[in-house]
Amino acid sequence: MEPWFTKQLTAWYSINKRDLPWRNQTNAYYIWLSEIILQQTQVAQGLNYYLKFIKNYPTVKHLANATEDEILKDWQGLGYYSRARNLHAAAKNIVQNNNGVFPTNYTDIKNLKGVGDYTAAAVASFAYNLPYAVVDGNVYRILSRLFGIETAIDSGQGKKQFQQLATELLDTKNAATHNQAIMEFGSQYCKPVNPNCTNCIFNKKCFAFANGLVASLPVKQKKAKIKNRYLNYFIIIDKNKNVIINRRSINDIWKGLYEFYLIETTKQTSELTILKHSQLLNICGLNFTIKHSSIEYKHILSHQHLYTKFYVLTLKSSHKKSNKVCSVKALKKLAFPRLIDKFLNNCDLDII
Ligand code: ADE
Repeated sequence: MEPWFTKQLTAWYSINKRDLPWRNQTNAYYIWLSEIILQQTQVAQGLNYYLKFIKNYPTVKHLANATEDEILKDWQGLGYYSRARNLHAAAKNIVQNNNGVFPTNYTDIKNLKGVGDYTAAAVASFAYNLPYAVVDGNVYRILSRLFGIETAIDSGQGKKQFQQLATELLDTKNAATHNQAIMEFGSQYCKPVNPNCTNCIFNKKCFAFANGLVASLPVKQKKAKIKNRYLNYFIIIDKNKNVIINRRSINDIWKGLYEFYLIETTKQTSELTILKHSQLLNICGLNFTIKHSSIEYKHILSHQHLYTKFYVLTLKSSHKKSNKVCSVKALKKLAFPRLIDKFLNNCDLDII
């Protein structure tokens, strides 16, 4: 432990911390929920999901007993849906193998599906004050700048080095507060872009501030490669007001969520071409009416840019028995990716 570090940090935290509902309580289940929700998600976006989840699933048993569809519906819009599926699998495991009692030590917490080093340290320290140092993006930023560490944070060596330093700095008797404080300082003060270094509590000790390296730290080695995908969705309404739907089962994006009939192409495809696509002819023949074709929506995920168009078609016949369908009226009950939900909110299928 470095007394100067934790002292200044926790003094800053006691004055500047945000009042967040998962703080000031030690229910490990609630803390775990909050941490899974907050992975890759801003507090402002995650807050209402957290409140919804603790209301709808007040105990780990409630979560275990829910269906995956119910959980995904409540998760709708938050993205990275494997988090919700893992949450459900872990809850079921806790109920089956531990009588519904949330694990109380680091190793058992880390063994839960979807829990890595960071989340295990966060839950173990926030709920039980156990001495495990959290290392998330905020911590990488603070430590790389303060101590001038140029090792790439996405390298094996970097991960080890930062974990070791964070562990050395940890105030082991007050792990909960120390960990909350370091993350809060990173997210609220030592920001990625244009932090206010002149007034920073650490500016006399900060290597990056002294050496003009604030904007260059932390260092990352990999540049994420962006893949472009072109999604053409067909909302095919038959004479019974049913549409073809699909529950995504492959593990690329949106596994477990619903979507409309999809023709994915490797490049932008004109309306004229896509409407003659063999897949479409196979599913609805030549006798369809085009009721609506949307603009192209661009949706940005971390490593993919999705270019999506929606076509609303009607048929005079009914869908084949082999197709999975849902009535237009019941669509609202299904969990869709945010992109599709947005389109549905703008397009009233009931009047088509
Ligand atoms: N981001 C991830 N975990 C958090 C927490 N416990 N408080 C605030 N932001 C967070």
